[in-house]
Amino acid sequence: MNIIFLGPPGAGKGTQAQRICDALNIPQISTGDILRKAIKEGTPTGLKAKEYVEAGKLVPDEVLVEIIRDRLAMDDCKQGYILDGFPRTVPQAEALEKIANIDCVVELAVDDENLIKRLSGRRVCLNCGATYHVSLLGDRTTCEKCGEPLIQRKDDAPETVLNRLTVYHEQTAPLIAFYESRNLLKRFDGMKGMEEVYQSIMETLGAKA
Ligand code: AP5
Repeated sequence: MNIIFLGPPGAGKGTQAQRICDALNIPQISTGDILRKAIKEGTPTGLKAKEYVEAGKLVPDEVLVEIIRDRLAMDDCKQGYILDGFPRTVPQAEALEKIANIDCVVELAVDDENLIKRLSGRRVCLNCGATYHVSLLGDRTTCEKCGEPLIQRKDDAPETVLNRLTVYHEQTAPLIAFYESRNLLKRFDGMKGMEEVYQSIMETLGAKA
């Protein structure tokens, strides 16, 4: 099954995509993680993307389309995948239609006030991509999966978060109508608890939770 996760920053796309990919044994293709890795390694893509990502702006469509074209051509995508963070603009969605058959678009809806709270308390592992929230971390400062230190993402700074929300409403939210018109959209209440959101998505995908 080829699935897109759509929703504003902090809606829980990464959290749910990671768990569902583990359950379905398919790859999670997070464009945010791919770009952060490229930035950390100083690759040509990373150098191009750095200023956009850190300012909470979208990286140009052509860079992202090339990344996705290469990634979807890999062997591990043959049994399906979850696209987490792509597409984010109508031109990206149109480009994707030329290279992939999408079965379902999972939209996670969360209001802006909650998104700001979630992102300000988020801590991530840059090594394996695991995501946590300070309210559930207690004294822990390292990743429970790989033991690396947890950090706050630069783009989770309050002023950058507001910019990312504006960018989402202006450039990404139009994809809701785009996929509704293709009968692919399934909407979920992302304000519910992580477990409940997970169970509802798995049920809709027809997979055993
Ligand atoms: P990206 O990394 O994709 O960031 P994003 O879409 O802004 O999404 P986030 O990772 O911030 O949030 P999420 O929905 O995954 O939430 P999470 O599960 O972490 O992109 C970063 C940047 O890269 C972009 O700004 C852009 O510059 C660039 N980029 C990437 N893709 C691009 C593209 N296609 N085109 C152009 N540029 C692109 O959860 C958030 C927090 O909430 C966590 O702390 C979590 O523990 C908590 N949480 C999750 N679910 C729940 C719940 N149900 N209840 C309570 N708390 C919850």
